[in-house]
Amino acid sequence: MSIYEDYQTTSQNYDSTRVPVGMDVVLGCLGTLGKPLSELALIDAGCGTGNYSRVLVEHVGHIEAVDLNAGMIEQAQGKLASEVEAGRIRFQQGSIDALPLDDQCADAIVINQVIHHLEDEGVSGYPRHRKVFTEFARVIKPGGILIINTCSREQLRKGYWYYDLIPEAVEKLALKYMEMDALKALLSECGFECRERYAPLDAVLQGETYFKPEGLLDPACRAGDSTFALLNDQELQTMESDLRAMVASETLEDYFREKDASRPAVGQSMFVCAVRS
Ligand SMILES: C[S@@+](CC[C@H](N)C(=O)[O-])C[C@H]1O[C@@H](n2cnc3c(N)ncnc32)[C@H](O)[C@@H]1O
Repeated sequence: MSIYEDYQTTSQNYDSTRVPVGMDVVLGCLGTLGKPLSELALIDAGCGTGNYSRVLVEHVGHIEAVDLNAGMIEQAQGKLASEVEAGRIRFQQGSIDALPLDDQCADAIVINQVIHHLEDEGVSGYPRHRKVFTEFARVIKPGGILIINTCSREQLRKGYWYYDLIPEAVEKLALKYMEMDALKALLSECGFECRERYAPLDAVLQGETYFKPEGLLDPACRAGDSTFALLNDQELQTMESDLRAMVASETLEDYFREKDASRPAVGQSMFVCAVRS
């Protein structure tokens, strides 16, 4: 399975540019299960550096966390060493389309900002997404829930101030994100009923880093957004020289404000809550 982002390298800086947004939405969805949160068996699919698991482990009974990338898991395990030792969470390296877990072992799965990495663009029928959702249907108990944190294409167009500086990469990126209606239909074919969709409008995936536009000149500050991995050298140079020109003419702050004006109305991320039929 190919991954366009080099997460081994990214894992070193990921946490300085990413925060776990929408936690109230996730906890709210888990709360609909009709069981105390402290008794829930949860899967964090594509757990990355464990930012969501770190919060969720304080609330639920047990977490199985799975990620493809060794570097991301290493960061997560370091962060949650005492919870691992206490048996509250287990990390496994593996792919979410073949989870190393038993049938019907989980009350819920959370999957945050991962499905656009499944590389179904240009292929009909979303076979990789289908394989992953079918696998999720295998491990979730009937009546359990799947919480998908992704982005709508409208959010990609209006929710990130810097995306007009890298239009070619954003065009490629948009093709990696399923349209919401197609996602709903595919989930239904895989045994899930979509119940709710939430866009936390004030949640910013990059945290404070997002509001420091000059930061984009630092590769470490770009680590939390894999759109940059879709730039070629020429496009990267153009973006950097556009940024430098705005810094020199002291217009970057105005550019940021103008381009960021549409974000509060659409937000940056979308949470889809679906129930296993
Ligand atoms: C943008 S990061 C999100 C990490 C974490 N969920 C978060 O929100 O902070 C995407 C993660 O998905 C993982 N990933 C991508 N494809 C995967 C797959 N097929 N199986 C497991 N993990 C995968 C990557 O290794 C990476 O850690």
